[in-house]
Amino acid sequence: MYKFRTSCRACGYAAPTAPSGIKAAPSSEKLIPVFSLGVQPLANDFRQDGEEYSGYAPLEVLFCPRCTLAQLSVVVRPDILYRNYAYVTSPSQMMLDHFQKLAYDLADEMGHGIKDTQIVEIGSNDGRLLNMLRAEGAREVLGIDPAQNLAKIAREHDVPTLAEPFTRDLARSLSEHKPEPDIILARHVFCHVDDWQDFVAGLEVLAGKDTLIALEVPYVVDLLDRCEFDTIYHEHLSYLSIRAMVSLLSKTNLVLHHVIRYAIHGGAILLIIRRRDAAEPPHDSVGQFLDAEKITAETWQTVGANASGKITALKRIVMDATQTGKRVCGYGASAKSTVWINACGFSKKQIEFICDSTVQKLYRKTPGTDVPILPEDQAFVQCSDYAIMFAWNYEREILDKQKSFTNGGGKFIIPHPNVRIVP
Ligand code: TYD
Repeated sequence: MYKFRTSCRACGYAAPTAPSGIKAAPSSEKLIPVFSLGVQPLANDFRQDGEEYSGYAPLEVLFCPRCTLAQLSVVVRPDILYRNYAYVTSPSQMMLDHFQKLAYDLADEMGHGIKDTQIVEIGSNDGRLLNMLRAEGAREVLGIDPAQNLAKIAREHDVPTLAEPFTRDLARSLSEHKPEPDIILARHVFCHVDDWQDFVAGLEVLAGKDTLIALEVPYVVDLLDRCEFDTIYHEHLSYLSIRAMVSLLSKTNLVLHHVIRYAIHGGAILLIIRRRDAAEPPHDSVGQFLDAEKITAETWQTVGANASGKITALKRIVMDATQTGKRVCGYGASAKSTVWINACGFSKKQIEFICDSTVQKLYRKTPGTDVPILPEDQAFVQCSDYAIMFAWNYEREILDKQKSFTNGGGKFIIPHPNVRIVP
């Protein structure tokens, strides 16, 4: 189900040193274990009764002291994680606003807007972003996503999509048949990839001299600053620093050109990458981010202590509520909800259900527990006294939408950045 990964995927630290073909001696270097949640179920492995779960795997973070990349100690087989993927890009207003901002930043970076451009999106999910970029004037779009179920939805919305993982081989076959894209976009997919050498080689093959590559990834500094430990799960293989990215690209024909910070998903960065032979000098932001980044193994080790404090705080509130006869539900069956519920050891006795708007998750159970997912229906939420907001990255939007719940005396328990009760 999984394999161990003991060398840094960005800079190669702790990789065995031997010419290929010769049995390698283990390296004397070692990545440093900095955080562990023990053995956990796969966060998006929502199943119906009677269906088999994919299983459990260790959830442990290792830190590279050379380039500051943090990565999981194991890689779960991608075909197990993504074959029938329940994560669908949220149609929420916050996400649509973010897409608008992204389109604006891409247009700005291109210099002449995105009208008439050809765009390839890696990890295109249900095609929502490509559809929007086409409406903004992109001439031709192509999605690439290994999840068959999502590629099908995208095609139904007229977004041509290849249901395959992005690899150097795929890039080669695309470049034989198509002109170089103007923009290659990958949102929240790079840190799901194990073999960065192959992925970056694919980008090098596909990118022309003027192609703009835009990778949106969660920013590790936000995770560390706000102890977002619930974003650590098996799909997120890496927790990326700018320093690690620069280190990875140093051996390639690509260079980090510009970094833009976003608030989405608890804090993300857009990494604008260009071909080394085409790039103007990097934007000031690259040096500024590098100067500000001070990540050490100790920084990571504080996440463990702070996470334990948050877990204890949530358990106490939920136990106090249920012991006094109050009813508690969850709001948003995010991957984060699976991490929280398993870390706290909750069952349906404490959390009766989680409501969610994603049809793919409905009437299934939270992985590792018996907590069911029910529709995001007012009537369901309103029978609870407390709703734990597991989709805390949409806090404002959910509070606005659920005013009748809070006006009727219902309270949200929001676990981010610190566990608190609202109102
Ligand atoms: P999300 O935070 O996007 O991702 P992750 O799984 O990476 O943690 O998940 C949010 C979940 O919350 C998603 O399943 C959709 C759901 N949701 C609602 O049910 N209602 C809402 O109003 C919003 C904003 C999200």
